[in-house]
Amino acid sequence: MKSLHDHVRKSVLTFEEWEYAIDFLTRTGHKCTDIRQEFILLSDVLGVSMLVDAVNFCERAAATETTVLGPFYVGEHKVTPHGTDISASLEGERMFVQSRVTDLNGKPLAGVPVDVWHADDDGFYDSQKPNYDEVGASARARFITDSDGRFFFRTILPCSYPIPTDGPVGEMIVQTGRHPMRPAHVHFLVNAPGHEPLITHVFIDGDKYIDSDVVFGVKDELIAKVEKRSDATMPDGKKAEAPWHLMTYEFRVKPGGGLAPKPLGTKVAEPAGFGNVRPVVPAQTALPFVAEGCR
Ligand code: BEZ
Ligand code: FE
Repeated sequence: MKSLHDHVRKSVLTFEEWEYAIDFLTRTGHKCTDIRQEFILLSDVLGVSMLVDAVNFCERAAATETTVLGPFYVGEHKVTPHGTDISASLEGERMFVQSRVTDLNGKPLAGVPVDVWHADDDGFYDSQKPNYDEVGASARARFITDSDGRFFFRTILPCSYPIPTDGPVGEMIVQTGRHPMRPAHVHFLVNAPGHEPLITHVFIDGDKYIDSDVVFGVKDELIAKVEKRSDATMPDGKKAEAPWHLMTYEFRVKPGGGLAPKPLGTKVAEPAGFGNVRPVVPAQTALPFVAEGCR
């Protein structure tokens, strides 16, 4: 509150500016739905989400770096067999993703649910498309690591994309002369029992926006070299129809606990271990504020 009051004093905030701020926040609230969170988007583009990440996850030791969850962790992440093409209905250059989950000593962790999601070749998530309710998920799934901690799947090479610009946050980005782009990436949420849930992305090296992510989410360790391959078969021995890309990335999780966030708009009950990341605030028995009247 002190910082806020200092700001008002220092900037000699005018009534017009105050009104604009109130209107901006009101419009931000009105833009929110079950599967759209414009306030989190605002926090993301102001760098606040990554700052909260930085102050909370500074001691990573050997653990994989974390980054923002983003607004597209929505709907159902269905358990899917390894090797599945999660983007079978989408056009784009094919990519094989091979990965492993280990503890900090490199010991493979079996039976770990890993949620993945990413944008399509046009830069849209499935949930942004008007026919999402009928067509359902694409480029979105849940894998369970095998006895060697591994999981793998087929998909398309994602591309860089703009954050949603059809709301007050997008308007602010445009008016302040920033670009709205995020470099190409795949999101991963690794939820190993007995370990801290890991919320992260893997970015594709060489992306034009890798140094200017609109939400400040890139960390060097999260950039993967994605190889262009022309082998006739993919790593699981199945035929490749055309030249393809190979993403290889391993995740190391930290011992601990905590609840993974629930996808926005989830319709089905999550298995045990999934909950809501928001802390439970104890109910207050007495109001801490006593009106003192004008003095
Ligand atoms: C995303 O990666 O999906 C994302 C993250 C933060 C803001 C907007 C989009
Ligand atoms: Fe994303």
